[in-house]
Amino acid sequence: MTRRIHRDRIKGLLAVEERRFVKDHPRSKRLFKRAESVLLAGVPMNWMIRWAGPFPIFAKEGKGARVTDVDGNEYIDFCLGDTGSMFGHSPKPVVDAVIRQVRKGITMMLPTEDSIWVGEELGRRFGLPYWQVVMTATDANRYSIRLARMATRRKKILVVSGCYHGSLDEALVSLEGGKVVPRAGNSGAPVDPALTTKAVQFNDLAGLKRALAPGDVACVLAEPAMTNHGVILPDAGYHDELRRLTRRYGTLLILDETHTLSCGVGGYTKEHHLEPDVITMGKPLAGGVPVAAYGISQAVSDRIYEEIIHDEDETGVGGTLSGNALAVAAMRATLEKVYTQKSFDRMLPLSERFTQGIEQTISDYGLPWYVTRLGIRVEYGFLPRPPRNAAEVDSFMDPDLERLMHLMALNRGILLTPFHNMALICPYTTRRDVDRHTEVFRESVASMLD
Ligand SMILES: Cc1ncc(COP(=O)(O)O)c(C=O)c1O
Repeated sequence: MTRRIHRDRIKGLLAVEERRFVKDHPRSKRLFKRAESVLLAGVPMNWMIRWAGPFPIFAKEGKGARVTDVDGNEYIDFCLGDTGSMFGHSPKPVVDAVIRQVRKGITMMLPTEDSIWVGEELGRRFGLPYWQVVMTATDANRYSIRLARMATRRKKILVVSGCYHGSLDEALVSLEGGKVVPRAGNSGAPVDPALTTKAVQFNDLAGLKRALAPGDVACVLAEPAMTNHGVILPDAGYHDELRRLTRRYGTLLILDETHTLSCGVGGYTKEHHLEPDVITMGKPLAGGVPVAAYGISQAVSDRIYEEIIHDEDETGVGGTLSGNALAVAAMRATLEKVYTQKSFDRMLPLSERFTQGIEQTISDYGLPWYVTRLGIRVEYGFLPRPPRNAAEVDSFMDPDLERLMHLMALNRGILLTPFHNMALICPYTTRRDVDRHTEVFRESVASMLD
């Protein structure tokens, strides 16, 4: 039997949950008051204000799959730093490597041997020969776009409408009425993004062909499956055609694997035998230590090498702290001991179980919702079927319902990623953690039904 969410009940439930949140978090509340006088919006980074409560919880400690707050509440963490700690908080091999390296020099503007090991390993996993290490996935994307412009002598880039690749001016766009416009919230854009960027909807191959045909696009920058408008999977054959069209029109293909590393030890690229010209990635690569990387093909290297290696350091690519000794030591430990097939063998069945828990509830209550899994990343949404592009997701947005689901989870000891209905499984997550989520999800949904 199909049941409907009782709209009138959402506001009332939100008020009840907010009161419970305030009662359970007196110290976080006090810290937030203090923070408001010195930190913009009371947080060190503006996204942190976007958790479901009236103020953020202040963390005391993160360990494995758990976070404890300053009021002593413990949470099963399915947010995992929005992928930054996808392999758990402070995994021991990374902690040990960091401590060892911190004693031996943190940043020297000199390569260390670990960086060679890291390059070799990334090459084995992702199939591209040359690698660079940077600080954030935003950097990796920014530099890759720059290299693509250098290699092709073209100015424009193409992205998928509704994408997120970091705080990149060129990529904060959406497609509205066939026009490229700044994405909602992208205020302060330096130029009209239509000057720098073309956009198409995900899975729209005819649109992609039209956009590439004039031969003025340096690169397509895309996630292999979208993860920032819910999880949206590519249609069968999409990647073959994306690759064929980019080759045909002389456009480089940059795949951003930052979130799709959740698919396995070589990301979506390895799982699906893709052949991008450039791969970018960041977030969990060094177990939570800020590191990112990008890899390029032999052909791209041949086209940009002379320009990058000239006498000036102001090529617009690179950064003082990038590739530092601490970062590559942490990345090596992560790749060697944490981001491994053994971890995935443990995590994948749990993420299936997590997905089934949601599916069962959706089906038992006949809700018009869907759930999608991308390896160890699971996301549900308020659409009757899995979406094919960001425009479909936008037409079913329900911010109040989303906030209530998050707040109910949080008040019952579960952290979900803010601004996503997304959960990640880490090597420390247990069956009981997953089943607790299912229980809370079911209970939350039941309380809102007609
Ligand atoms: C696919 C993708 N690429 C890049 C980024 C940027 O990562 P960072 O903020 O760590 O630079 C994000 C951030 O959410 C992302 O989702």
